[in-house]
Amino acid sequence: MSGGATPGLVAPTRAGMLPAGPDVVNTSDYDSQTVQVNLRETWLIRGVEIPTRVVLAPMAGVSVQAFRRQGRRFGAGLVCSEMVSCAGIEHRNEKTLGYLRVASDEHPLAIQIFGSEPRAMAEAARVVEAAGADLIDINFGCPVRKVTKTGAGATLLDDTGRACAIVAAVAQAVGLPVSVKMRRGLRDGARTCLEVGPRLVEAGAATLTLHPRSAQQMYTGRADHALTEELVALVDVPVVASGDIVSRARAQAVLTTTGAAAVMVGRGAQGNPWVLREIVDGDAREPSREEVVAELVLFVRETVRELGERRAASFLKKFYGWYLGRGRFPKPFKQQLVVLDSTEEVERRLLAAAPGALALLELLEEEVSVGDEVLLELPISIYGGG
Ligand SMILES: Cc1cc2nc3c(=O)[nH]c(=O)nc-3n(C[C@H](O)[C@H](O)[C@H](O)COP(=O)(O)O)c2cc1C
Repeated sequence: MSGGATPGLVAPTRAGMLPAGPDVVNTSDYDSQTVQVNLRETWLIRGVEIPTRVVLAPMAGVSVQAFRRQGRRFGAGLVCSEMVSCAGIEHRNEKTLGYLRVASDEHPLAIQIFGSEPRAMAEAARVVEAAGADLIDINFGCPVRKVTKTGAGATLLDDTGRACAIVAAVAQAVGLPVSVKMRRGLRDGARTCLEVGPRLVEAGAATLTLHPRSAQQMYTGRADHALTEELVALVDVPVVASGDIVSRARAQAVLTTTGAAAVMVGRGAQGNPWVLREIVDGDAREPSREEVVAELVLFVRETVRELGERRAASFLKKFYGWYLGRGRFPKPFKQQLVVLDSTEEVERRLLAAAPGALALLELLEEEVSVGDEVLLELPISIYGGG
């Protein structure tokens, strides 16, 4: 296979190999490349149209609905749920089913599932399809022991037969395109993804996302996107590059050198949706304090609605540091917020610190309320939040 397109699948062109055209802009303001990729270019995963070449990463303990909706507003063309246990879905665990809520303004949205049994994964995929996802993403990358010891996540990279059986079972069970997210392999220096990737495509994967660190590395060292480039050359489906994409310059460099269809942004977007705007549109304006507070308060309100006050209050604490750091607010302010018990009090303190944020917040609430009204296909009682 050579990276050519298959019927029904259009990967963006490899900008670095093309003359300048509508999708490619020659520029001199980017130091290491002379050609810029248009990140607002639409691409397809089978029939699913992805409006930009930036994907918001699935992150356990982070990728709640408020995070995903915000990501879409700031320019992510595709968002993804955190990994959801197929065993939890199978047993209709209330908390697990809560991860499957889909709002109308999230589309296109992938819901990611993990597990080790093809039959159970296929059944979970059917539930995910019924919940309204546009793509089923399968996790072959999680390095955390709690997951790998069950035979799921990154361990499946060393069990190609089982990994392919899972993809085939899921692809047969649903009409949605199936994507797979994986690491380079289990151990440092592993190149397993290059052997497994093409087999997963043969088994039915319509796209692959590669985070080219080993499971052993966890999040240390650098993502080696030379492997992403090799994978792109081996498969005829779009590849998404994940790892260390924190700026437009980095996104451009990775897209141009690897030929990937899109980049995925994870930690860089934690408490910083503005980085998505910078990457997609080159708008590098720093947000004002009022903008930061308005986004954070909206995020708090939406998360309370999703998780309920008690769960949201502890879930949100890490976000205060993420939003208020980066020199935006003095450190003691964040420390005052994390010890507060109620999100109402957090909101009061935030708005007192930037009174002009209230008007912005009202505008934002108006903007997002349309998506709110058309909510889900699942009964509200399962969310545990009112
Ligand atoms: C807190 C956290 C949770 C994550 N959870 C998931 C997950 O549920 N599923 C998954 O496929 N990857 C998960 N990842 C990996 C990210 O999706 C991404 O591949 C990785 O962070 C590298 O990208 P980055 O450098 O942009 O953060 C997680 C990463 C972090 C930091």
